[in-house]
Parts: sequence; structure tokens; C-alpha cells
Amino acid sequence: MSKPAVLVARAVFPEVLERLSQHFEVSSNQADDTWSADELAARLAGQQGVFTTASERIDAALLARCPELKIAANMAVGYNNFDLDAMTARGVLATNAPDVLTETTADFGFALLMATARRIAESEHYLRAGQWTKWSYDLFAGSDIHGATLGILGMGRIGQGIARRGAHGFGMDVIYHNRSRLTPALEAECKARYVSKEELLRQADHLVLVLPYSAASHHAIGAAELAQMKPTATLVNIARGGIVDDAALAAALRGKRIAAAGLDVFEGEPAVHPGLLTVPNVVLTPHIASASVPTRLAMANLAADNLIGYLTQGKPLTPLNDAVLAKG
Ligand code: DGY
Repeated sequence: MSKPAVLVARAVFPEVLERLSQHFEVSSNQADDTWSADELAARLAGQQGVFTTASERIDAALLARCPELKIAANMAVGYNNFDLDAMTARGVLATNAPDVLTETTADFGFALLMATARRIAESEHYLRAGQWTKWSYDLFAGSDIHGATLGILGMGRIGQGIARRGAHGFGMDVIYHNRSRLTPALEAECKARYVSKEELLRQADHLVLVLPYSAASHHAIGAAELAQMKPTATLVNIARGGIVDDAALAAALRGKRIAAAGLDVFEGEPAVHPGLLTVPNVVLTPHIASASVPTRLAMANLAADNLIGYLTQGKPLTPLNDAVLAKG
């Protein structure tokens, strides 16, 4: 019996490709070329499975051109690159890569918060540029993390990881807002208090965004929300571009409406709003929150396991649209 055909749309760990090739006829993209939607659709012709990252869009137009596709396995926990309704309507299973990246991403969220509040990147650029001539009392004086109020918007697994770090490691007072409130047991474990979005914006000394991107969360933080924050506050986005109105944020940073921001994700990335590139009080990183070697390998292996589990036994590990499984 011939093996199912699978396309790995982006460069990936060679050992993961090797695992996949034990089960499938694999077409890969180890040169990591950037494919247009049209090219991706053309390459998907005749494939039963596709291994994607958060950069490849799987929507109705693409699915109409790939009638043999049965599964798209995302090497990401976020899946706003998938049109889930269109995939379900076409009987295409969607899977993501949750859990394996939670702690690594929470570590990074905290690192970005610390770099932002303590002005680490800005001061390093100053030193490298040869501008440091003497110690002075207010040189790159930032804000404290210990004992401050940590606000978290979006309290899923990663948000909870950040809350634990803040509350238990740094004695922070943690407040959060989420679509649904955590159980009392989880709130106690995270030492986190539920507040309205308005209270969160007003009270947080450091606000971290960890909510999924959807039409409902588009520009959840724009000019009006930034105006409600403390002028001394910092904002960190490790969720998705589009949750923050980057133009409004650049203006708020330039006008010192808030003190500083740390951004790992951007609207329209890899492009970055030019206004963000020219303000000093922002730390910018290229969507690397989950990028430790063991975690990226675990994410890739989970995407591969989903392809193998579904295409060889009908049993994916982390399905997103169970309705496709129910249909058989
Ligand atoms: C995720 O897993 O969603 C990360 O943002 C990587 O894309």
C-alpha cells in the first residue's frame, strides 16, 4: 500500500522530517522559501496532510483547491492562521501544539517584562554605541517588578504560568481579566484576582497580553485602552500581532503616555510598524517566545504525532475541530 503524501510547508528539524518519512511520502521546504498562498495551494495538490506553522493560512479558497487534504497540523498553539469553520465544512482536521510550550513561553513573557521595565535593551544599545561616559543616579532608571501589580489579559495556560512566576517568584500582586473566570482553586494557585478589563488597565503596573487572536480581540489594546493605563506602566505582547493597535502604541510610547513596551509579535509581521522602530522605549523581538531548542522540537514532534496519529490510525492527539472526527 502506498504511503499517504504529506507536505511540510516550512523548514523543520531534520529528525522530525525523518520520523515523518517513516510513515509518509514527504515533500519538504528545507530551504524555508516563502510561498505565496497560490504556491502553497499548488504544492498541496494531491497531499493528504500538511505540517504548518502559524505563518501559513489555511482557508476556504485554499481548501477548494486541495480536495484530498485531510489534516493540517500546526506547529503552534495559536491557530488564527486556520479558518476552522471552512476546515470543518470541508472535513479537514485541524490540530495545534498546546502544553509543550507553556513554561518556555511564560519564561519568555517574564524575561520580556523584565527587559522592558528595567530598560535592558535600551541601555545596552547606549553602551554599545559608546555613549556611556559616567555613572549617574538616574541612568536608565526604570520601574520595579517585585511588589508591583502584574496585570494579565488572557488567563489560559501561559497566562497562569506568568501569574505563578510573578506571584511566587517576585511577590507581585497579580490581577487578571479573561473571557471566563478561573476556578477558585486555580486562582489560589496563581495567587491571582479577577478584575474587569477597565480595572486591569487602570491598576496594572505591568500588563502582559496572552490572549488568542480573533475578530473579537482585534485591537483589544488601542488608543482608548492605552489612555486608561498608568503613565508609568509597561505593556508586553507575547500573544499575537493585531491584538495591539501598533500605530496607537507607537504614538503612546513616543508621547510617554505609557513608560515602555516589550513586543514579540506585530501586526502584519515580519513587517514592523515604522513608528515602533524609532522609539527608544520599546523592546522588540522576532516572535521567539516559544523558541528554546527543546520546546521547538517538542512542538514539531507534536505536529508530526498529530499527522501520524490521524493519517495512520484516525487518532490525532490535539484536535481542534472534533466535528470532523465525529463525522468519521
Ligand atoms: C504559538 O505557538 O502560537 C507561537 O506563537 C509560535 O507561533
